[in-house]
Amino acid sequence: MLKLAIFGSGSGTNCQAIIDAIAAGTLDAEIKCILADNEEAYILERAKKHNIPAIYFDCAPFKSKLDGEAEQKVLQTLEEHDVNFIALAGFMRIVKDGLLKAYEGRMINIHPSLLPSFPGLDGGKQAFDYGVKFTGCTVHFVDAGVDTGAIINQKIISIDDEDTLETMMNKLHAQEHIAYPEALQWISEGRVKREGRKISVQI
Ligand code: GAR
Repeated sequence: MLKLAIFGSGSGTNCQAIIDAIAAGTLDAEIKCILADNEEAYILERAKKHNIPAIYFDCAPFKSKLDGEAEQKVLQTLEEHDVNFIALAGFMRIVKDGLLKAYEGRMINIHPSLLPSFPGLDGGKQAFDYGVKFTGCTVHFVDAGVDTGAIINQKIISIDDEDTLETMMNKLHAQEHIAYPEALQWISEGRVKREGRKISVQI
């Protein structure tokens, strides 16, 4: 059974999709806690609404990574809540060695582009500005690079002439909300096999 911690920094719609999939019985997992590096993040309100422990952690003095004392505190929190798998869902920090090693092969992320294109910040906007005709989202294992981990699931959307960044992002988010619970369920069923960076999903 996946005993999840979900990490976020913002609105948490992907987290909500995971909560909803569990409630609907399409994802066999339990959310042990929801963590955010931003006290105001709406993802924490979602946790409270569903009676899931909502935990804010201060990452100072680091601006863009989770490291040092904060990392140690997070590791302790995860142990206290009996977490065996981490889902990053709009978590806007780079995860460093301590967490990577403790949860090796047990931490995944969702990114708003078809990786390896447009990694890093604002993947959706990068693709829109570049002028690609198709983009999408990627669920991938987390490794030491930025959005470089082995790919588990991708969904594609078209960028049509009449699309604005906003309408494109709406389509993209709708696909994310399908792709993330789906990938987690494949993992939960033990169907995700990994050979190097190649992932296959057993039928
Ligand atoms: C999602 O679009 C996710 O792909 C993106 O942040 C958004 C979070 O939305 N993640 C990244 O850009 C990570 N590099 P949410 O808080 O509503 O789930």
